[in-house]
Order: sequence, then structure tokens, then C-alpha cells
Amino acid sequence: MDRLRVAGGVPLLGSVAVSGSKNAALPIMAASILADGPCTLAGLPAVTDVETMAQLLEALGLDVQQTGGNTLCIATVDPCPTTAPYELVQRMRASFCVLGPLLARRGRAVVSLPGGCNIGTRPVDLHLEGLAALGAVIRLDRGYVVAEAPRLRGATIDLRGPMGSTVTGTANVMAAACLAEGTTVIRGAAAEPEIVDLGHFLISAGARIDGLGTDAIEIRGVESLYGTQHRVIPDRIEAGTLLLAAAIATGTVSVEGARADHLTSVLEALAEAGVDVARGDDRITVHASDGPKAIDVIARPYPGIPTDLQAQFMALLSLADGSSTICDDVFPKRFLHAAELRRLGARIEQRAGTARVDGVYRLSGAKVVATDLRSGAALVLAGLAARGETIVGGLEHLDRGYDDLAAKLAALGANIQRESPALDAASALDSTTGIIPLRARSASEGLGVTTPKTLARASG
Ligand code: EPZ
Repeated sequence: MDRLRVAGGVPLLGSVAVSGSKNAALPIMAASILADGPCTLAGLPAVTDVETMAQLLEALGLDVQQTGGNTLCIATVDPCPTTAPYELVQRMRASFCVLGPLLARRGRAVVSLPGGCNIGTRPVDLHLEGLAALGAVIRLDRGYVVAEAPRLRGATIDLRGPMGSTVTGTANVMAAACLAEGTTVIRGAAAEPEIVDLGHFLISAGARIDGLGTDAIEIRGVESLYGTQHRVIPDRIEAGTLLLAAAIATGTVSVEGARADHLTSVLEALAEAGVDVARGDDRITVHASDGPKAIDVIARPYPGIPTDLQAQFMALLSLADGSSTICDDVFPKRFLHAAELRRLGARIEQRAGTARVDGVYRLSGAKVVATDLRSGAALVLAGLAARGETIVGGLEHLDRGYDDLAAKLAALGANIQRESPALDAASALDSTTGIIPLRARSASEGLGVTTPKTLARASG
């Protein structure tokens, strides 16, 4: 049960590199199932969700080798397994991204239905409707989705749901359609950069796809895909989190490798909140010397402000001069972090899918717990600005999607330390503080996928 100890009040200064995108990496790793040859994926983030996907792919008969610091080579060695076990899908919903590739390549996919989730209702009806429109016969059997089709057939599919399109639903249907007979048109497709990146990966493996980045994607099916090499795009959510960290802690921070074109609405909102933003060729720099101005934030599908940055904006606006309103049009109930921010002194009132945030002059440190990945990031950011010490628990959420956020913030001067009480108890650490010195995990430990066989054996 690790936790982060953050002593607030230190301005941030310096440069930090953004890691590869988790939400691009996961569906691309899953789509490697489609290829006949090995796929080399570079620029992957060192996060536990990538480890989980590697374990799942091993369980599905793929060999996953770490061939460089942040590079995996993924190749099918046994094309027979078709079951994505409950234990893995329950750990990570993005495991559901193997459904389309498995079905298209192996004719059958048995994937546990994902359960509930802390960010609100997350159905998969659109994934299933899309694959059924391609000719799959789908049934539910003891908590598992069983999908079968000897060969999928192209079709016109609408993936618009009540909240707009679906990102991983588009990934599933687009990947499956690559090996379908004939042409598929996805209307109401997600236009997120992560879907565009998946499309580029598939094209590099021989797929024929048009319309990426728009809401109408056309896929002309091919007989087979070959092995390829691909580098995933930088993580726009991690970049946004680091920029918001500088905004809340004040200071001057450059995020190297961040793509301003993927963050247009976020940078506009930061500027509106009074933060200086400079877009460079391969970096974004922000400078904040005062507290933020109040602004209204509506999280929307791309190119809107991402729901995955809504919690971090709430942390920032807790300290704004005035009242802000925050809505989340993608996950209207994604507000569990509000209660934890209140424990730090934030004044947040929630009513029917809207949060009203009345800025306070100061937050005060307290013990808080992350309820999901992005709420964890928001609490760390709030801790950077709070008076005194904030202790953030629930780090297993943060580790799922941030490539050592604490080390990156520490490199910018933040007073932040990771503690491991378990190790402390074993006297492996400094007996007076129990503090583990921060270090660059990605460089020394890589992607942590060296022993994925353990789970493959456990799941049969
Ligand atoms: C992806 O989740 C991301 N995950 C999420 O990031 C992100 O918050 C979300 O997209 C929205 O941008 C990955 O990419 C691995 P959706 P996804 O299907 O695809 C409704 C993070 O913190 N919907 O686009 O599961 C749904 O309820 C994570 O990194 C249906 O109605 O989200 C929601 O309101 C969390 N029926 C909306 O669509 C469906 O079949 C968008 O969800 C599917 C979704």
C-alpha cells in the first residue's frame, strides 16, 4: 500500500519529457493479434496497464518480448487461445479491446464482460452492436461475451451512443473490419488522436483505412495483415496533467515531446485561466505566477477538453479567483474526486452532473485516497499547492496510467516522495523515515513485462 507524501508550496521549474500514450498503446497492442508477423511497438509508457495487456496477450498465445527500454516485440506463437479471462478484464477494462482483433483473426472471441467502474456507467453495447453488424453471432455465457464468425463482412455501422461516440468501441470495430470481406463504414466514429494512431499502426501493417480523425471512417477489408513497426504518440493526458501541475503550483515548466495540436482546447482553457502558454515545435511551455482565474469547463469528446483531464482542472479551479462550473458530457458521474478535494479544503458543490467550484485562497494538506487514475493525479496536483503535507493513497490507480508521475514532478522541484510501508516494515529502508528515494523507474525497470508467463499459466 504505497502512498505519496507531498509537501505543498514549492513552485515548479524545468523541463520534463512526456511518455508514450497509454490509451494509444493498449488498443494497438491488442491489434497486434491481427498481424501474421511480429509487431515492434516503441515509445510505450512504463505503466501497469501496459503490463496487464502484455500478460493478457501472453494468455492469448502471443509472445511478448521487451526489446528495448520502452519497446515490445509482439508475435503470435499459438493461434488457438480465444479466451480473455475475467481476472484480467476486471483489472483493466481496456482488455476488452482484444474482442474485435480475436474475432477477426481467429473466428471466435470469449471475453469477460467488464464490470462496474468508479467513473460511472460504462456499457459495451456499441462494441457488440458494431461487431454484430459485421456478421458476428454474439451471446453472453456465464459473464463472458462469446462472439463467433468464420469471416466478418463489411457493413455500415453507427457507433453514436447517448454520450457521443465510443473510443474503444471504435478501436474494436475498426480493427475487426480490417480483415472483413468488403468495405466497412463507421459513422459516429471517435476522432481521438489515439484512434488515429491505432489507424496508422493498422495501415502500416497493410490495412486500408480512410477518414481517420473524422467521424466517418472507411475500412476496405484485406485478407491478412503483416508484422510492422510503430511508435505510439505522446500521451496528451500526461502532458496536460504536467501543464496543469505547473499552473497550480506556479512556476515555469516545459513538457518536451508534447503535441500542442492534440491539446488545443486544454491550452485555450489554461490561457483563459490566466496561465501563459507557449507552443514550441516539440514542446509546450507554461508559466504561472498567480492563482488561476475562474473558468467554466465542459469535458467533451475530442477536440474538446478530455474527460481524463476534468479532475485535474477541478483541482486547479479549487484555487481560482471566483466560481467555476465543471460538467462532464462523457462521463456525467465522474466526480468522486470532488469529495477528496473537499477534504483538502476545496469548496465544491455537485448538482445533477455539474460541479460548482468556489475558489478558496488556500488548500490544506490531508490524507486522501485516489478512486481512479485521474482522480489520483488531481489529488497530487492539489497537494502541490496545499499548505502542509498531503498524503495520497490508492497509488495502484496512478501507477496504471502514469509513467512515474512523482519522479517527473520531483525532477521539476516538487517536494514529493513515495513511501512503501511494507518495505519499511521489512527494514529495507531508512528506519527513521521509511522514504524510498525517487528514481527513474522507466530507465531502470523498463516496462516490467519480463515475466508475463505467470499469469498465462494461472489462466490456462
Ligand atoms: C476511453 O474509454 C479511455 N480508455 C478512457 O480513459 C476515456 O475516459 C474515455 O475513452 C473517454 O475519452 C481507453 O482508451 C483505454 P467510451 P472508453 O466508450 O472507450 C458511452 C483513462 O483515465 N458508451 O468512449 O471505455 C460511455 O458510457 C480512461 O485513461 C456507451 O453508451 O470510453 C460513455 O458515456 C478512463 N456504450 C461514452 O460512451 C458503449 O458501448 C464514452 O465512453 C460504450 C460507451
